[in-house]
Amino acid sequence: MNCPILTFFNNKGGVGKTSLIYHLAWMFTEIGKRIVCVDIDPQANLTATFLEEDTVANIWEDTCHGNTIYRCVAPLSDVGDILHPILYNINSDLYLLPGDVALSIFEDQLSEAWPKSLGDINIYHQLRILSSFWQVMQLAAKDVLADLILVDIGPNLGAINRSVLIATDAVAIPLGADLYSLQGLKNLGPTLLSWRKQWKRRRTNWENAPIAERKRFPSFQLPVGGMAPLGYLCQQHSVRLDRPVRAHDKWARCIPSVYREYVLKEKAIPDMRQEEDPYCLATIRHYRSLVPLAQECRKPIFDLTGADGAIGSHAHAVRDARKDFRQLAEKIASRMDRLRYETLGEKPEDSAFATDMRPS
Ligand SMILES: Nc1ncnc2c1ncn2[C@@H]1O[C@H](COP(=O)(O)OP(=O)(O)OP(=O)(O)O)[C@@H](O)[C@H]1O
Ligand SMILES: [Mg+2]
Repeated sequence: MNCPILTFFNNKGGVGKTSLIYHLAWMFTEIGKRIVCVDIDPQANLTATFLEEDTVANIWEDTCHGNTIYRCVAPLSDVGDILHPILYNINSDLYLLPGDVALSIFEDQLSEAWPKSLGDINIYHQLRILSSFWQVMQLAAKDVLADLILVDIGPNLGAINRSVLIATDAVAIPLGADLYSLQGLKNLGPTLLSWRKQWKRRRTNWENAPIAERKRFPSFQLPVGGMAPLGYLCQQHSVRLDRPVRAHDKWARCIPSVYREYVLKEKAIPDMRQEEDPYCLATIRHYRSLVPLAQECRKPIFDLTGADGAIGSHAHAVRDARKDFRQLAEKIASRMDRLRYETLGEKPEDSAFATDMRPS
């Protein structure tokens, strides 16, 4: 059984994708899930959040093994094949496949393989390149018996992100209540739809490829390319302090309708509030000075203690953060279960990701 993959994505930058993945990864381990985080953003911010700079430097120096996502797929640019991923063990239930600034080099390879994969010669090699992120992620998850793969990507609609998205079962969309985030959402919806359709054509092309070609690679599997929208998360930190609250409210009120119209192709519901919108996974608080404090201590906000400097009102904010992230992790877990059931017929109780509802 393949491990479910959840990607956080918006082509508007700075909406909190990396911070959310980092915090959720830790929270998932608290509710009994084993997680693999994969950093497929060539900026490698998630890697920098988890690891000290010296550690990252050591990883990047070793260019012979699959110790970053780029090193795993790089041999495909030549005559080689995917390298087995080497995960960085953060704790017994949390693993990281580090990112790599060099990953940008692979973008051209992915762009070239996209049209060629619809041809009739050497389709296997093109599809191997296009599905390489998925193949690597599944190898990684199998090694550590992971329940879920969380993927971080950069804010663009390029070939790297297209390959990540075709590997993805579900997409969560962080955004802010502002014009730019809404525009990002309007671009994202049609793009996901188009990538889903175009990937299906490529899968069909492989199924119709000459038997001789398919027989040479009997165990070759391709991702489904589901990229189902799981919901959106509205960030309060992206609110500009010099902007009137009214402007924020105006954009916030548009989000439920824009999400329905552009991402789900459903009828917009005018004036629906986010708090009553089932597609709103969470409103993420502005954590202010707790953010640099947590970064300095290299731990999630909800793990900060008095000794770290989280005292007085900060201690309350830490407790609230724990409650909020726990609720969010449980909500995502149950939606992933439902999605697997609806798309693969996998019953929630059989799912590797079955929600473990231990009392908090
Ligand atoms: N809840 C929050 N409260 C306060 N600051 C936050 C919060 N979430 C994220 N930030 C800050 O906002 C900035 C952008 O966050 P982050 O890097 O997670 O966004 P991103 O969407 O991954 O950005 P990019 O598109 O560049 O990859 C960072 O400086 C981060 O520390
Ligand atoms: Mg980021």
